Amino acid sequence: MEELSAAGEPAIATHALTKRYRGGQLAVDRLDLVVPRGSVFGFLGPNGSGKTTTIRMLMGLIEPTSGTARVLGEEMPRAGRRVLPRVGALIEGPALYGFLTGRDNLVRFDAADPTADPRTRKARVDAALDRVGLVAAAGKKARAYSLGMKQRLGLAAALLQPRELLVLDEPTNGLDPQGMREIRTLVRGLASEGTTVFLSSHLLDEIEQVCTHVAVMAQGRLLTQGTVAELASSARGRLAVTTPDTAEAVRVLKEHGVNDLTVDDDRVTGELPVVARELADLNAALVRAGVRVRSFGTERASLEDAFVALTGEGFDVAG
Ligand SMILES: Nc1ncnc2c1ncn2[C@@H]1O[C@H](COP(=O)(O)OP(=O)(O)OP(=O)(O)O)[C@@H](O)[C@H]1O
Ligand SMILES: [Mg+2]
Repeated sequence: MEELSAAGEPAIATHALTKRYRGGQLAVDRLDLVVPRGSVFGFLGPNGSGKTTTIRMLMGLIEPTSGTARVLGEEMPRAGRRVLPRVGALIEGPALYGFLTGRDNLVRFDAADPTADPRTRKARVDAALDRVGLVAAAGKKARAYSLGMKQRLGLAAALLQPRELLVLDEPTNGLDPQGMREIRTLVRGLASEGTTVFLSSHLLDEIEQVCTHVAVMAQGRLLTQGTVAELASSARGRLAVTTPDTAEAVRVLKEHGVNDLTVDDDRVTGELPVVARELADLNAALVRAGVRVRSFGTERASLEDAFVALTGEGFDVAG
């Protein structure tokens, strides 16, 4: 069989990737992940679901117990020396020198990169500081940085060079809403320049706002992966009726087999019937019963609906 060229391969592909820590904890369980090039890929899961462990294996920081991980078309951790210079990474708790200023931390990071030209170092550092909004705080010692500022500095280090792939472990951890918005804008900008961005998060909302693709983890296992649109459409939307006669509407809908009815002010929502044709019958039944229907329709499912359908309402933190 002809071997695929590296450029045609996904940015990340894992096969049955598994990590069992020494204590016996199965942190990642036979993970098959495919991250298309050019995607903004959200790696979603609650605390302890195996996100950081997966990212550490992808970056060659820990060895998998079994299974394989390919990054930018090459086997990790074996090809780390070739692959890692093409990847920018921000992993849980970036290692910073507290006694150095933010700027000098970046200078050090840049100097540690043998491919970085010292003559253009200052320009790279300034550009990275600017991108993450740290220009004003650049002269402050890193130990005096807030959590959010440290996070920004770690991100700046990952952005010193243009990269094919950015791997960001909970990039908005510790950031305020304004900071989160800035990171989203930054990620969108990077993606529009062609960088593949793989970011982990336990915030559904954040994933929905910035990602094209998503994988959902729970307790070390992959529940699903695909485009955000696919996942959202896999959850059926809900029937929504606006009426002043909510009690009567609930009675009629229940009688016609609509489940999971809820009332919120003048809005009654419930599970959509399986057959679209039944929708018209439902509407007719409401009108026949004297329910004054102000609006009748369906609401599109959100990623959250899909998520709840998958996990059965929020998911428990791994023990
Ligand atoms: N070094 C380690 N030794 C033993 N067990 C570990 C180690 N690191 C993580 N674990 C365990 O592996 C599981 C997955 O942890 P991991 O840090 O990968 O989760 P996570 O999804 O990144 O969580 P969070 O959202 O809290 O960052 C957890 O049960 C955790 O307790
Ligand atoms: Mg983590």
